[in-house]
Amino acid sequence: MTTAPDPINLADYERLASELLEAGPGGYYNGGAGDENTLRANAAAWDKITLRPRVCVDVGDLSTAVTVLGEQLSMPILVAPTALQRIAHDDGELAMAQAAQAAGTLMVCSTLASASLAEIAAAAPGAQRWLQLYLCRDRSVSNALVDQAVAAGATAIVVTVDAPYAGIRERDLRSGFVVPEQIDMPGVTAALGRSAGLTVEEFFAMVDPTLTWAKLEEFIESAPLPVLVKGIQCGEDARLACDHGVAGIIASNHGGRQLDNVAPTAELLAEVVDAAGGRVEVLVDGGIRRGSDVCAALALGASAVLIGRPMLWGLTVDGAQGAERVLELLRHELEISLALLGVSSPRQLTRAHVAGA
Ligand code: FNR
Ligand code: LAC
Repeated sequence: MTTAPDPINLADYERLASELLEAGPGGYYNGGAGDENTLRANAAAWDKITLRPRVCVDVGDLSTAVTVLGEQLSMPILVAPTALQRIAHDDGELAMAQAAQAAGTLMVCSTLASASLAEIAAAAPGAQRWLQLYLCRDRSVSNALVDQAVAAGATAIVVTVDAPYAGIRERDLRSGFVVPEQIDMPGVTAALGRSAGLTVEEFFAMVDPTLTWAKLEEFIESAPLPVLVKGIQCGEDARLACDHGVAGIIASNHGGRQLDNVAPTAELLAEVVDAAGGRVEVLVDGGIRRGSDVCAALALGASAVLIGRPMLWGLTVDGAQGAERVLELLRHELEISLALLGVSSPRQLTRAHVAGA
């Protein structure tokens, strides 16, 4: 009998996870909106970027360490907020937080987490964490989530602004996906003051579709932590975000799960970075699957990237260890890519390292 070889890249984890996940959860995790054109384009667009290495540079002393919005991280790779991680593995967010802690990086915890922020903090007390927040029509719900985050030692809030309504995800419609009964969103239910379960649809019905820049600024002014916005896709909105007091921008199309046929993030990143003009740091996510993709994002001006689905694949395959291994595979690829590009640290990357930028 032969044993399966260990996964050596993120695509291996994707394959292994898809063998383990049933159609419903697998479709929820891996699917996108509409025809999934943006979902596919996100990954393909990083593949299309051509890197421009420099040689005969001393790369004997390499480091992937960076500071991102004041956080000292071992690498410019963060864990993106993804909902309901207990669907992947019983240890869910607790395991994900342990993986992030072991890898020396930061986890952004979803509003729709299937563990409370207090539980996540207890599972990985040394980890850095931010809260991803959907602003609800009833701001007292959002404020209660912010209070939970502060109590759990979160150091920033990431307000997701690309989902006034959930995108139309046809895999979920076809599979009839519903959140398994035993999986809860304790942060939200505590904020609502109720104990019963909540579906994703019920949650989205609470999200405030009337959010404007002025209302966001109001929230930012009263927030006890710095606020980033996630879901910026053009220069105009990057400028507005800066004008309204955000601490950082995440260029994102929600992994192709919201509006289909929008640009892949690799293609809009430079526009967003240029519009931010150094006023705030710009992070990016969507389809990043290789250390060389991370280098391309940094060369285009991102201060860090976030990884969504591959973290769920790692978690599905092997809990905390699988999620940590995904981060370590990316770190190793990043190290080698930096060296082969002729730089010894991430901040030395410039637009000269990508063709045509
Ligand atoms: C997400 N994403 C997301 N974003 C967010 O702001 N709040 C959330 O609760 C979730 N939930 C969520 C669930 C699942 C299953 C996925 C796949 C994604 C979007 C996520 O943060 C990120 O923007 C994308 O996943 C990045 O793209 P990749 O790395 O998955 O290609
Ligand atoms: C999603 C939501 C929860 O993408 O952000 O499924």
